[in-house]
Amino acid sequence: AVAAKIAPSMLSSDFANLASEAERMVRCGADWLHMDIMDGHFVPNLTIGAPVIESLRKHTRTYLDCHLMVTNPLDYVEPLAKAGASGFTFHVEATKDHWKELVRTIKTKGMRPGVALKPATSVEEVFPLVEYENPVELVLVMTVEPGFGGQKFMPEMMDKVRTLRKKYPSLDIEVDGGLGPSTIGMAASAGANCIVAGSSVFGAAEPAEAISILRKSVEG
Ligand code: DX5
Ligand code: ZN
Repeated sequence: AVAAKIAPSMLSSDFANLASEAERMVRCGADWLHMDIMDGHFVPNLTIGAPVIESLRKHTRTYLDCHLMVTNPLDYVEPLAKAGASGFTFHVEATKDHWKELVRTIKTKGMRPGVALKPATSVEEVFPLVEYENPVELVLVMTVEPGFGGQKFMPEMMDKVRTLRKKYPSLDIEVDGGLGPSTIGMAASAGANCIVAGSSVFGAAEPAEAISILRKSVEG
């Protein structure tokens, strides 16, 4: 099986105390820190960019799993690489035919490329990016409309996860949106191995316990 990665979404953290929130999540067992980068254009919300990633990088060595909800992902590659981002996951809806250049640049700059898809986008759209000679290494299946934390998980997205897992046994498949103790079973049995969780982890009385429940579901 593919290794489980539990990635708390820092969108649900106290942004004014980002370094200590990140440290707390790592202490609670997080593998990755999920960083939601929004430009107020691709989605109706505005969050953080490279300057904040650069500041956070000075306080942690943990893998920074950056999810780019932006209209022009190529513009972010160089700044995020310099800032110390680890993963760079762009939206397939934001690319037309320039994804090959985008993936190549992400790798050249030392980051790990991933592709995300919104709920209305069919899973076939990402096949070429996974099958290309220079492929993306992660597919992020959105299980809510991107833009905000705290929304309800869409179980009908599990068909996409099952299709991807069947076709690509060793691919990193990430799910994002509405994941928590009551929905993780569906995602894990469909074949997701990278789990983003914002409100369920930050809202838990014991975040370490919430993370451990997610991990046990994925690892079986
Ligand atoms: C939504 C973001 C998610 C979000 C998840 O656009 O991509 O990462 O923070 O938050 P929860 O887990 O609360 O749905
Ligand atoms: Zn996200």
